[in-house]
Amino acid sequence: MRTLVTGGAGYIGSHTLLQLLAAGQEVMVYDNFSNSSPEALRRVRALSGADIALCEGDVRDGARLDQAFADFRPDAVIHFAGLKAVGESAEIPLEYYAQNVSGSIELLKAMQRQDCHRLVFSSSATVYGRASYLPYDEGHPKHPANPYGRTKHFIEEIIHDWAAAWPEASVVALRYFNPVGADGSGMIGEDPHGIPANLMPYMAQVAVGRLEYLNVFGADYETRDGTGERDYIHVEDLARAHLDAIGYTAQNRGCEVINVGTGESASVLEMVAAFETASGRKVPYKIAPRRDGDVGRMVAAVEKAERLLGWKARHGIESMCRTTWNWQSKNPNGYAE
Ligand code: NAD
Ligand code: WQD
Repeated sequence: MRTLVTGGAGYIGSHTLLQLLAAGQEVMVYDNFSNSSPEALRRVRALSGADIALCEGDVRDGARLDQAFADFRPDAVIHFAGLKAVGESAEIPLEYYAQNVSGSIELLKAMQRQDCHRLVFSSSATVYGRASYLPYDEGHPKHPANPYGRTKHFIEEIIHDWAAAWPEASVVALRYFNPVGADGSGMIGEDPHGIPANLMPYMAQVAVGRLEYLNVFGADYETRDGTGERDYIHVEDLARAHLDAIGYTAQNRGCEVINVGTGESASVLEMVAAFETASGRKVPYKIAPRRDGDVGRMVAAVEKAERLLGWKARHGIESMCRTTWNWQSKNPNGYAE
């Protein structure tokens, strides 16, 4: 089994590589390293003892994609490559549409040219937007609140049309909730450039002393303790969902969208407490105003993942915080060490 992994050097991609390799698959990474480091791939090679083919390239480059397909002849593709910063997407929306939407179209075209019809796509729970009801099931209306979320929404629709027009196509779009945590080795993890925009890496940098305190964005939501609640999902569980989804595409045709979460939510203050316990460090925080575009609570309906993929999350927030701390404390400056 040969899987081409676009964006495979990134946070979720690198963790997924480990599981693909552990399952005996051959992999090729297609990445332009715009938000990642070749060091992540070196570490995955060291951890797995397996080889990883690499084609450095941009997903918008159809000729380069053809070359990767010709060299590697994949049975399936996992498509992680793209830009993912919500705030930045409102500042440079065209760049987001070009890299995420046009990049995905180039990839689909290349797959069709090369007669590769199995795809797992990284979508996001951000496509849902404000909740009409909770938990969000896959039939919940989509009204994403930012350009990044709209790129994911549009790509899902494009993939649906592509799969409808090409009966051989077999696609699973996974809608991730809030991926956090790291491999238990502490050798790979999330390494955001600049000041982290997301809660877990921000807390980790406060605990390690790179940042002074956490701003808790809003304590007046209608949630258990007033702070925002999210469905955090351990990256190892998320990586396993990709392996299961790849297996599903071998047996089924058409296009499915599937949530990947735990079905439980944790508040910001609960995450702070869990992180303090896991790290043995204080995470000082201040209550700040709500962040623009945030919603109070997000939580996934997870029945479809279990029904179609036989997948269920195994890790809770204790393990998410412990493995994040293990990575952060061993690599205080990420891959730059
Ligand atoms: P990441 O930035 O760590 O990984 C993305 C990888 O894609 C990086 O290695 C980057 O260099 C590469 N890349 C970006 N643009 C590219 C291009 N044009 N051509 C080739 N390579 C390119 O992000 P991640 O957290 O691992 O996310 C992976 C995917 O999952 C993304 O599509 C993201 O939108 C999606 N997702 C992430 C989250 C999250 O919170 N991390 C949540 C939901 C969905
Ligand atoms: C979690 C909670 C914040 C930072 C984002 C994207 C989403 C998806 C996952 C890609 C919220 C609070 C945060 C801080 C805080 N990514 N918070 N202080 O916003 O749920 O989801 O990542 O697809 O598209 O929007 O995640 O980690 O930013 O926030 O209080 O410094 O932590 O308000 O309640 P979010 P997050």
